[in-house]
Amino acid sequence: MRVIALVSQKGGVGKSTLSINLAALAGEKEPAMIIDRDAPQCTASKWWNRRQDLEPPPAYPELIDIGQTPLKAAVTKLKPQPGFLFLDTRPAVGAAEAEAVQAADFVIVPVKAAIVDIEAIALTLDIIRRLDRKALIVVNAAKNDRRATDARAALSRFPVSVCPHHLSDRAAYLDAPIDGLSVMEMQGAGARAAEHELRQVWQWALETMNG
Ligand SMILES: Nc1ncnc2c1ncn2[C@@H]1O[C@H](COP(=O)(O)OP(=O)(O)OP(=O)(O)O)[C@@H](O)[C@H]1O
Ligand SMILES: [Mg+2]
Repeated sequence: MRVIALVSQKGGVGKSTLSINLAALAGEKEPAMIIDRDAPQCTASKWWNRRQDLEPPPAYPELIDIGQTPLKAAVTKLKPQPGFLFLDTRPAVGAAEAEAVQAADFVIVPVKAAIVDIEAIALTLDIIRRLDRKALIVVNAAKNDRRATDARAALSRFPVSVCPHHLSDRAAYLDAPIDGLSVMEMQGAGARAAEHELRQVWQWALETMNG
């Protein structure tokens, strides 16, 4: 199983949004799991709990409650299984996030297309570099393509891959989780547009991971 950590010191950039939607997307073809390392906020766990009320509850992603088990031990135990494991983390780069980066094969760093967010990314990238993990920056919630392009240009100074695809600012990302859905499972044109860009990002992440 490949382990992907969603990490960013900055809050509200889309770690949980990407965790749940990418896990649902990965789960279309292979087993997909989430470990929620953001207590007490628990965005991914709350989404997953609402998802259990769907009829029938989707098989994936599974939410893995590791209790008091150290993350490294829990991941080592899951590792022989096929599929993908997503680690959603707190808006911080402390010991718990270092543990998640260390347990991961690959790190995705969502960043909003705004100068203050881009400037704040250095601390997050430091920890990934120190732990020598492959990473991909994904621009999220861009108001338009121009802003996404400008953000990518500003991010190109960092020695980390930047995804050429971005996620736009769309109501579907806010609305789908209300009912425990991913954007793929939601109706409407906005959800289809969200699904399209999410698939592009996932495809790129897979290629970067494998490359
Ligand atoms: N592309 C997007 N378009 C519109 N809204 C978005 C998008 N991505 C995330 N959001 C919304 O922004 C808010 C923050 O997103 P999310 O919870 O995923 O960020 P986070 O990095 O996990 O935050 P935290 O650091 O607090 O855990 C949520 O309300 C989410 O629905
Ligand atoms: Mg979160």
